[in-house]
Amino acid sequence: MAPVQMTLLLGIGIALVCNSSYDPLLACLGISVLAYVATCALIPRLGPDFVRVGFSGKDMGKKDRPLIPETMGAVCAVVYLAAMFAFIPLLFYKYYVTSTSGAGNREQGVDAGIEMLHTGRQLRLFPHSKLAEYLASLLSLFSMLVLGVADDLFDIRWRNKLLLPGLAVLPLVFTYYVDFGVTQIALPASIYRLLFPDSPPMPTIVDIGALYYAYMFALAIFCPNSINILAGINGLEAGQALVIAIFLLINDAVYILPGRVLGISPIHPATEAHLFSTYFVLPLIAVTLALLKYNWYPASVFVGDTFCYFAGMVFAQVSIQGHFAKTLMLFLMPQVFNFIYSAPQLFGLVACPRHRLPKFNPETGLLEVSKVTFEAAKSPKGLQKLLLSTFSCLRLAKLDADPKTGAILASSNLTIVNLVLTWTGPLREDTLATVMLGIQAAFCTVGIVVRHTVVPLLFGRDNT
Ligand code: UD1
Ligand code: MG
Repeated sequence: MAPVQMTLLLGIGIALVCNSSYDPLLACLGISVLAYVATCALIPRLGPDFVRVGFSGKDMGKKDRPLIPETMGAVCAVVYLAAMFAFIPLLFYKYYVTSTSGAGNREQGVDAGIEMLHTGRQLRLFPHSKLAEYLASLLSLFSMLVLGVADDLFDIRWRNKLLLPGLAVLPLVFTYYVDFGVTQIALPASIYRLLFPDSPPMPTIVDIGALYYAYMFALAIFCPNSINILAGINGLEAGQALVIAIFLLINDAVYILPGRVLGISPIHPATEAHLFSTYFVLPLIAVTLALLKYNWYPASVFVGDTFCYFAGMVFAQVSIQGHFAKTLMLFLMPQVFNFIYSAPQLFGLVACPRHRLPKFNPETGLLEVSKVTFEAAKSPKGLQKLLLSTFSCLRLAKLDADPKTGAILASSNLTIVNLVLTWTGPLREDTLATVMLGIQAAFCTVGIVVRHTVVPLLFGRDNT
């Protein structure tokens, strides 16, 4: 980044952090700008050190397979966590500045606030549960960072690493249990009437008890892993996380902006939850944008599993805290489809090679569908053959068969990246990444429209 640009961004960031109205949202924006600058500055400087200690990978989409730094998501995660720690006093500032002498003066408020903190009078007003929620989220993200780095270091088998996010989410789940313990979900009005014909029609809420905690674990395991397996081309991991984060921010803005910009009151109860989500999403957008600068084609760094897990955990965590997991799932439709489509390989019905990323053709310089090959003696039979043949008929897989015996010799790997290549033919790596991110953005757009049009009809109300 040019020094002038960096100085300008630093100035903007500091001005926003020190904004005269002590607005946490502006401060968060400022912290995010600073996090962007820090990540941009650190990645190229730390890259060679990462390679030296073994955090490197071969770029398989290039002719000479250059070795470049990997696990750069760790730099993003550290900057992100530092930003979130620094944000704590800014977020809770208003609880220790209680009364002012007016006209924007704050000296009286600061003094009075500190005194009251010492005497304990103000403490009862302090939102300790919010702070606990915030710290528990950071603890979960920190655990995810450590486990992500461990995965990049030891290259843990995917069947085992699938469960790592389940471990990282424990602080969040237990804090949720002792703090809120809300285990109710809203059902669509028609389903509610079907299940509970004798209950009053509104509200359509059911308590699902322990199942709620199971759903939290499922979400925490799904989000990080689903991003990690929709990968393998420059810019895809960071790009999809960026698109999803931007749409989460747009969804938050739907709740926050009417109150702030138009002054519409009363502010909806969900506004607080969405403000909280914004505080976690904005810095993620900042560090991801910086990472994408270096990870976009031709990549000079890889993001590593650390980034996929970390970003996925931020998504899971904000949706758990903000009670909008269904909205998140609408945004994660490409990941859901990729997971379901990959399931035969993930769960061992069809062989799964270590890498399923598209194959680089050195003659054309384009990426082609990658394949899993079967030895003649192990050619798919029974259910495996039926599944692959059905996929082939539906144009969901490309098969190579023995012309004499009809035995399946190879099948395209079951990922949506390969599926797109099956439909489009070979593509340049950056074109493929752009297509994949376009698909992600299209699903998110449909998701946000559905969320605020169809969903309110189904549920009998819109909670915006
Ligand atoms: C997941 C996928 C795997 C895919 C890999 C690519 C499953 C079950 N696992 O494995 O099929 O091949 O991600 O990230 O679906 N790489 C590139 N270019 C890129 C990104 C990655 O060549 O733009 C290669 C590099 O060699 C890099 C390696 O992929 O070192 C990283 O793979 P890793 O993230 O460790 O793979 P997994 O997450 O285990
Ligand atoms: Mg990975």
